Amino acid sequence: MIPELAGFITRREGRKFLRLRPAIDESVVTGSGVDEGISLYIHIPFCRTLCPFCCFNRYLFKEDQARSYFVSLRKELDFYIQRGFRFSDFYFGGGTPTIMMDELLSFIDYLNQNFTVKRISLETTPRDISEETVRQLKAAGVNRLSVGVQSFDDRILKAMGRLFITGEEAKERLRLVQGKFDTVNVDFVFNFPGQSLTQFEADVRTFRELVIDQATFYPLMASPHKRDAMERRFNRIDTSREKKFYNIILRELFPAGYQSSTAWCFSRGDRMLAEYIIDSDDYIGIGAGSVSIVKGNFFVNSFSLEKYAAMIDSGRLPVVGWRSLSPAEHLRYYLLTKLFGLEISEEKFRRRFDTGLYRKLGAELTLLRLAGVLRGQTDGFKVTRRGMYTVSVMMRDFFASLNTLREHYIERQV
Ligand SMILES: C[S@@+](CC[C@H](N)C(=O)[O-])C[C@H]1O[C@@H](n2cnc3c(N)ncnc32)[C@H](O)[C@@H]1O
Ligand code: SF4
Repeated sequence: MIPELAGFITRREGRKFLRLRPAIDESVVTGSGVDEGISLYIHIPFCRTLCPFCCFNRYLFKEDQARSYFVSLRKELDFYIQRGFRFSDFYFGGGTPTIMMDELLSFIDYLNQNFTVKRISLETTPRDISEETVRQLKAAGVNRLSVGVQSFDDRILKAMGRLFITGEEAKERLRLVQGKFDTVNVDFVFNFPGQSLTQFEADVRTFRELVIDQATFYPLMASPHKRDAMERRFNRIDTSREKKFYNIILRELFPAGYQSSTAWCFSRGDRMLAEYIIDSDDYIGIGAGSVSIVKGNFFVNSFSLEKYAAMIDSGRLPVVGWRSLSPAEHLRYYLLTKLFGLEISEEKFRRRFDTGLYRKLGAELTLLRLAGVLRGQTDGFKVTRRGMYTVSVMMRDFFASLNTLREHYIERQV
């Protein structure tokens, strides 16, 4: 009941992010007064095959298109440099960032020419991993490599449209990256239609046996249209089973020495996260379909490759939707991201908003405490083990709202 209620409230909040103005007031996009620790997300929207369940902005790979995309990316980054932004943490996501290694490596060179690069996190698929790519990524300074495995079970991979590589082959590829980066992460999806609890438990145990640093477990998220399409193709998406899947993660990983870094991410030791939305309060996203949050302004780039390139060529930011969050919306967004990261620090809040947590979020914090989601400590709050599933539902529902936005823009090629 509590997770469902929390999810409902989050969906309602998330829908506010969908009410966007079409044109941005470019004067709000300035690096002055923005923290040096702001992260940069870089979206590479190309894949060799398109997985039917995937909710990200992605297109079938075509070499010419991808090459000109990397040119546009540099120009977009230049806009931000000219506006005074300085970044040190970089997150490449997709799509498949490793789809064109020469372009990726030269883009990383460009980052090094312009910034003091501290950390680079990058997503890839098992299919792209070879000794050569590992060597190149290491030499380029990649600290965290995240590999989308989804499942080791070939029946699930087939249902997901991902049998381009079998579970056994994925394990082989993971052995090539194991221990080569500061952090190696593996992504899984759970509660896929037709996936049994036993199949998922076997996936979590295999992950544990591979002794990999980190895993991120995504509950299947579907926007309304994707949901219809997936249910026509597979089975009903049954969210009532989700908690049982989630409990398997906690039951299998906590005793094995993994700690929760977020509600979805479990790590051994102190590892780098992909969740730039937790690491830094503000972030800029570049590339087609990326989103940004700066000083309470939320904005969205064009999802269409043509429109994205055309806007950049005409000297504009490729932004097609913008909203200045009200102070209350901004605070609730802050709360959601910190809940997802499982702790809320009084000191960090004070530094960010110049006032105390209880003064601004007293009602929300009291409710979450009464519901057993949070427990207080001297310097803030921590999400309880029992509350972790509630936070997972909140995040899933928040992303589902954003997926509605993505779907709307992708279908209309905005
Ligand atoms: C953008 S993908 C990049 C990884 C890489 N392209 C791959 O598929 O191997 C990042 C992760 O998002 C997750 N993901 C994609 N679509 C999802 C969906 N509809 N619901 C839940 N998780 C999803 C998958 O676990 C995937 O590995
Ligand atoms: S899951 Fe990964 S490989 Fe599949 S379409 Fe999405 S981004 Fe591409």
